[in-house]
Amino acid sequence: MVSASSSENHDLLNKQVQEIAVDCHQLPERYIRKEDEEYGSLTNAGESSSTTTSPEVPVIDFSLLNSSPLELDKLKSAVGSFGCFQAINHGIEGSFLEKVREISRLFFRSSVEEKKKCLRADDDIEGYGNDMVLSNQQTLDWTDRLYLTVLPKHQQRLQFWPQIPCHFREVLDEYGSKIELINEVVLKALARSLNLEENCFLNQYGTKSSMNARFNYYPPCQWPDKVLGVKPHADGSAITVLLQDKEVEGLQFLKDDKWIGVPIVRDALTINVGDQMEIMSNGIFKSTVHRVLVNSKNERMTVAMFCMPQTEKDIGPVDELISDETPRLYKNVTFTADFFFKNYQQGRRAIDACKI
Ligand code: OGA
Ligand code: NI
Repeated sequence: MVSASSSENHDLLNKQVQEIAVDCHQLPERYIRKEDEEYGSLTNAGESSSTTTSPEVPVIDFSLLNSSPLELDKLKSAVGSFGCFQAINHGIEGSFLEKVREISRLFFRSSVEEKKKCLRADDDIEGYGNDMVLSNQQTLDWTDRLYLTVLPKHQQRLQFWPQIPCHFREVLDEYGSKIELINEVVLKALARSLNLEENCFLNQYGTKSSMNARFNYYPPCQWPDKVLGVKPHADGSAITVLLQDKEVEGLQFLKDDKWIGVPIVRDALTINVGDQMEIMSNGIFKSTVHRVLVNSKNERMTVAMFCMPQTEKDIGPVDELISDETPRLYKNVTFTADFFFKNYQQGRRAIDACKI
């Protein structure tokens, strides 16, 4: 495949993947995966995600977390080994989750002009656009995103919030409030699972939490083994709550050097811990690397909600988790988006920069 000239390259970077995917006869070079940039092997991309020998992503019943020590233990081991689980009976109605999927669908299906009203600037993460270009060599993800600050409310940049559909703002604000409650339930349960005071993680948040929403759109691609929807990464959040597509799978977590697919469980939320929870738990809970595969026939849409402490606050391992046998593994840090992306840009994990 001939590499694109610089003007072609420029055109390409200005196009969203959704536009490139329409009538795409040749895969643009910038999107082709490179082995040396990835964890694990490239050849397992098309592998079935749920073979009988693969472990399964644990399913946690939220309605049992307060009454069943067994369920709490299951949560602890899920987050300690996988770093992720599927939450069921979490209290958000399936019909409301459908509304969230609907605003995402209506936005991505609106006209190019309409979507471009929310376009992000080249050097900004907030807004609509394709993968953020951090370096000339970077392989681009086969995805378009709409990234918005949801909390704290006074930091919302409403110029990036879609006008179409007209109820977008109302639904996302309501979803944000519901996810804030889920964040509280998860952080309290994780603390209790370690026999700690239940607010010990939440206390690091300050009076208000931060939350960002990322609406992900993965167009189909005729060469699904040559691109990635999202390249391997770990999240910079404390926890991430993902609303998966109702029909199309694609998310995989790296466990013991193997990629494990996350199946679709009706009305479940897929929750994983990010770097900030790994730090606060002094490494007990794992911020696991994950990636997204694309599908040759079907588009896929997901909504990720990144929950984390206020960025002006320092976070660090909880005192009670530090002892002679379990020494402190991480420094206290102010975990900002800039800090996360600066490491990401250099091909490093932000969490490694926090290790002692
Ligand atoms: C993310 C992410 C997974 C998905 O947005 O950080 O990992 O399936 N998304 O969209
Ligand atoms: Ni992620």
